[in-house]
Amino acid sequence: MVSPHVHSDILITGGCGFLGRKLILSLLARTQLPGRIVVLDAFPPSPPSTAISHDTVPIVYRTGSILDTKVLNEVITSSTTCIYHLAAVVSAQAEQDWNLGMQVNFDGTRAIAERCLELGIKPVVVFTSSLAVYGGEVVKNCSEDSHIMPQSSYGAEKAMCELLLSDLSRRGLLDARILRLPTIAIRPGKPNAAASVFISGIVREPLQHKQKTVLPVDEKTLIWIASPRSAIKALVHASVVPRETLVDAQGSRRSVITLPGLSTTPRDLIDAMVRVGGGDASLVEKKPDPKIEAIVGTWPGDIDTPWAKSLGFEVDKNVDDIVKIFVEDDMH
Ligand SMILES: NC(=O)c1ccc[n+]([C@@H]2O[C@H](COP(=O)([O-])OP(=O)(O)OC[C@H]3O[C@@H](n4cnc5c(N)ncnc54)[C@H](O)[C@@H]3O)[C@@H](O)[C@H]2O)c1
Repeated sequence: MVSPHVHSDILITGGCGFLGRKLILSLLARTQLPGRIVVLDAFPPSPPSTAISHDTVPIVYRTGSILDTKVLNEVITSSTTCIYHLAAVVSAQAEQDWNLGMQVNFDGTRAIAERCLELGIKPVVVFTSSLAVYGGEVVKNCSEDSHIMPQSSYGAEKAMCELLLSDLSRRGLLDARILRLPTIAIRPGKPNAAASVFISGIVREPLQHKQKTVLPVDEKTLIWIASPRSAIKALVHASVVPRETLVDAQGSRRSVITLPGLSTTPRDLIDAMVRVGGGDASLVEKKPDPKIEAIVGTWPGDIDTPWAKSLGFEVDKNVDDIVKIFVEDDMH
């Protein structure tokens, strides 16, 4: 049971996942500390020793689903001022199981919004969308202003959430800041069910585990990536970007920000892995997988993002830095 708290609460859904855990640490490293952090995830921290605690900021872990009304009623209260909504079923899994993807990725987001409406609170909602909302021929010459045409159920679900949260923000009922994230690499730990999982695998497995790994797409495929450090910095920055700057040239509310990223290829990443970390490139086995190629091939490999940059969102310098960040932060 999550008891009501007098201070302002930050809720992080999916807070035990890859980005969620790093986000908690980053919020705790800021000079302006939150009153309390509530972490909702379908799974508890694993292993339990990875649960984060803090001397002065209470961190409350609630294991449960965003689809459970009772759970949402507990974690979103009149004290909730900011929600980082990260909980999601990732790309390959959402493609395989349409019902699950629609429920968690869309119905779950709607349930969170409706709970806020019911309480009459207007929190800042930082939502993690994805480059997977783009698709079709625009991916060859893509900008943050290109129209969206998702070519996967995951991308479609993220696009639907973008519209839902944008409309509620236009109506002044929420204050959504929607970030279209590049693929975040290098992801530590076990591979997940994202179609992009190989992008981290081709660095992590040879370097950290000295194990073979598969590259399921052509090594020259353009990919759009950012480091976890950049992604977390962007999530926190999104929560404080002044509301009045989130408008287009006509003054209409603009809630969707396509994050700047780095355009590179698996080949460049493998070379950086060898150069920076001294890993063995022969552990990367080239084995095309039409299912993965079909999803990843529809994502843009480069996106022009002048508006996001003007709002202060930053980009990693180069692929060597992406590998260095993994070595420094996660390769222990
Ligand atoms: N990592 C990336 O490359 C990337 C790229 C683009 C967008 N995103 C988005 O960023 C967000 C975070 O990504 P991540 O890499 O940390 O993913 P992750 O899979 O590591 O974490 C997601 C978390 O959500 C939780 N979750 C799933 N269903 C839930 C439910 N019904 N109720 C409560 N919790 C639930 C999972 O247990 C998991 O801990 C996701 O929304 C993802 O779609 C990530």
